[in-house]
Parts: sequence; C-alpha cells; structure tokens
Amino acid sequence: MTATTLRTQVAIVGAGPAGLTLSCLLHNAGIESVVLENRSRRYVEERIRAGVLEQGTAEVLAAAGVGERMHREGIVHHGIHLQFAGERHRIPLSDLADGRAIVIYGQTEVVKDLIEARVDAGLDLRFDVADVSVHDIETERPRVRFSHEHRDFELECDAIVGADGFHGVCRPAIEQHLRIFSREYPFAWLGILAAAPPSSEELVYAHHERGFALLSLRSAERSRLYLQCAADERLDEWPDTRIWDELQCRVALDGWTLVEGAVLEKGITPMRSFVTEPMQHGRLFLAGDSAHIVPPTGAKGLNLAISDVTVLAEALVSSFTGGSRTGLAEYSRMCLRRVWRAEHFSYWMTTMLHRLGDDPFDSQLQLSQLRYIVSSEAAARTLAENYVGLPLGHRAATPGR
Ligand code: APR
Ligand code: PHB
Repeated sequence: MTATTLRTQVAIVGAGPAGLTLSCLLHNAGIESVVLENRSRRYVEERIRAGVLEQGTAEVLAAAGVGERMHREGIVHHGIHLQFAGERHRIPLSDLADGRAIVIYGQTEVVKDLIEARVDAGLDLRFDVADVSVHDIETERPRVRFSHEHRDFELECDAIVGADGFHGVCRPAIEQHLRIFSREYPFAWLGILAAAPPSSEELVYAHHERGFALLSLRSAERSRLYLQCAADERLDEWPDTRIWDELQCRVALDGWTLVEGAVLEKGITPMRSFVTEPMQHGRLFLAGDSAHIVPPTGAKGLNLAISDVTVLAEALVSSFTGGSRTGLAEYSRMCLRRVWRAEHFSYWMTTMLHRLGDDPFDSQLQLSQLRYIVSSEAAARTLAENYVGLPLGHRAATPGR
C-alpha cells in the first residue's frame, strides 16, 4: 500500500502537555503543525498526573489563550508545609520568592483544555496513530511516517518535535548522538485520588521513619495523596485500608486529623532522574519527558515541559518568519541550564524527604537539613525560589552553560 503524503511546517509527536502546548503556541504565531498521538483521546484525558503549576507555567498557558478554566478552577497557593519529627512547619513561598505563587490544577485538566482548544479550532490532532517513525532528520526535509485508521501516511515537514515522553520513539532515533545522564532511586510513589476534602489547605511534604508521604489536592472535594513504597511494589498488596493506615501513621499530628474517603484511582509512579544532552539533532528537537525526567518530589516535570516548548516555539517562529536560525541551533543550550536546576532541586527534595535505607547517618543528615530550612530564612528561600520556579527568562543568557 502506498503512503499518502501530507505536508506541514512542524510535525509534533506526542499529545502530552509539551506537544499540545507547543502546537498551541505555534498556531497563535501563524505556524502550522500536526500533532500525532498513539493513545486514544480518552486515555490521554483520563491519565492522572501531577498538579502543581509554577506561576510562570500558568502565565504561559493563560497568554496562549487556554487559561480560562484554570483561572476559574485552579487554586492559588502561597505556601507549603514540611513535616518531620512530629512537627509541621509552613514555608511561606510567596513571602520568600518575590510574591510568586503556585496554582493547583491537574495536568489532566491542562491537557483537556489544550485538546479542546485545538479540536475547536479544527486543527490537525490525530489520536490512535500507530507505527510512528522519523526519517531524514539530517536533511532540510525531514519526514514522519505513521499509520492512522488503517492507512499509511508520510508527513513532510521542516522540523520534527519529539514530545513523546520517556518511552517514545524520537529520542531512541538519535540516541547515538546523545549523552545520557541518569539516576535510579530504590523507591517509588503509590498515589491515590480520594473522594475526600483536603485535610490540609496547603500541600504537606512529610518525612517519616516509615517513609515519605505527601498530601496534595485537586479541588475542595478531591484529595491527592502519595506514599513512598518499594520500587518493585505491587498494587494488589495495597488494599485501600492499608494505604489509609500508612498515610495516617506518616502524617499524624497532634490536634489534626486526616479525612479519609473512597479511593477513586490508584497507581505507582517510578522515580528517576534523567537528562539527555543535547536535546536536538539535525531537524529533530526533543521537549519535555522525552528529553528529561525528574522525580516528582519537586513538582517540576510538567513545568519543565512547558518551559522547553516556550523556548522552542520562539525559536521555530523566528526561523519560519525570516528571523534568525540561531534560536533553533541554540534551543538545547537555552533549555539545559533550567533543566539541570530542576534536576538538582528534584534530587535534593527527594533525597531530603524519603527514607533512603537503614543507615541512621542518612536520616540524621536529612533531619539536620530539614531543621535548617525551617529555621533559616536563607535556606527556606532557596527552597521557595526553586519550588515556585525560576522566571522563564532563566535560560542560558550568555554563551557557555
Ligand atoms: N507516537 C505518538 N505518541 C506517542 C508515542 C509514539 N510512539 N510514544 C508516546 N507517545 C505519547 C504518549 O502517549 C503521551 O501522550 O506522547 C505523549 C507524551 O506525553 P507526556 O508523557 O505527558 O510527556 P510531556 O508532554 O513531555 O509532559 C511531561 O508529563 O509525565 C508527565 O511528569 C511528567 O509532568 C510531566 C509531563
Ligand atoms: C500532585 O498534586 O499530584 C503533586 C503535588 C506535588 C508534588 C507532586 C505531585 O511534588
């Protein structure tokens, strides 16, 4: 069967936050793109992911014209809590970080808003595609082959963006040109979405001898809670009662109770740090999880994906509108400084808050660090500044990283 040839300016593989936001930014600037997603729309819209937007991320989404529901339903937070040794301490993020705040709004909701905007505008977004492969990326005329609804297609374009997550096909296609940095952690997160009002207005990150726990939320009726578990943990070993008992134990505080509710969803999130350098080769550009992964403790994954595509959109627009091509050549360098900052912050939060093993030396160091953060404004500010996110302008401003 011969393939049908299609043509666009930018072929985007993956309809996660990175790919969808990029397509939206490009469209707003008059650049055409096609988004190819191998899962169904329903699957993508129901996948539960993280829920903390840095202020800069919320601003990008709003400026792109997809912030209406986020403004209505998102919850602005000005602080988080750290809990350890039976005490809970508030970190006043906004006081410490120039008034900046975070917005609690699920990644799932961000994705729904972006899909709706694209579908309403009648723009090309194809779900359930199969056999995606990238070709001729070292030429001026790269191509993406895929099949959709039992037909084969060849999509000619000027640039391909691999926004296809950690398990996608784009990064492996250029792996021989990349240097990979990675770290595995010997634990994971067991996360639940519960039909329970949040017991704490703001997020609580709890360090406990039995392991880390996190109280988060999605709305006034929905709590999102996480427990550190073993990397190879099986979900069937965690009936709901065991999850609640463990949460109750790890976040217990005198005079405060954790409200329980029906468990609507549960899943295990692996923990990994991963960076590829550079984030591009020829006419293929990687963005979001396809280029880097952070453990979720710093809530940085989604935010990094959005900052990548903000940089990439600018560079692509400039190259298409007769501006400079250097933006594209510099894309990776522009992103990696911010990526590594988020990598360090996520690693630091992770290793400070989780049970690392049986060595009491580790736990004494962790407690010392936690006590320092809650007693020194300078230390708390370091956490706050990173948590709310460095301004989007925090890129590699001058040559060299
Ligand atoms: N062809 C087409 N689409 C693909 C392929 C493929 N071969 N492989 C993967 N995909 C799709 C996935 O189904 C997914 O919808 O690419 C999309 C990648 O989206 P995400 O994994 O959400 O990655 P990204 O957009 O970079 O967003 C990063 O997502 O995983 C979280 O914590 C992470 O918050 C971060 C954010
Ligand atoms: C979430 O609400 O899903 C969440 C919040 C904070 C994190 C990670 C996940 O650090």
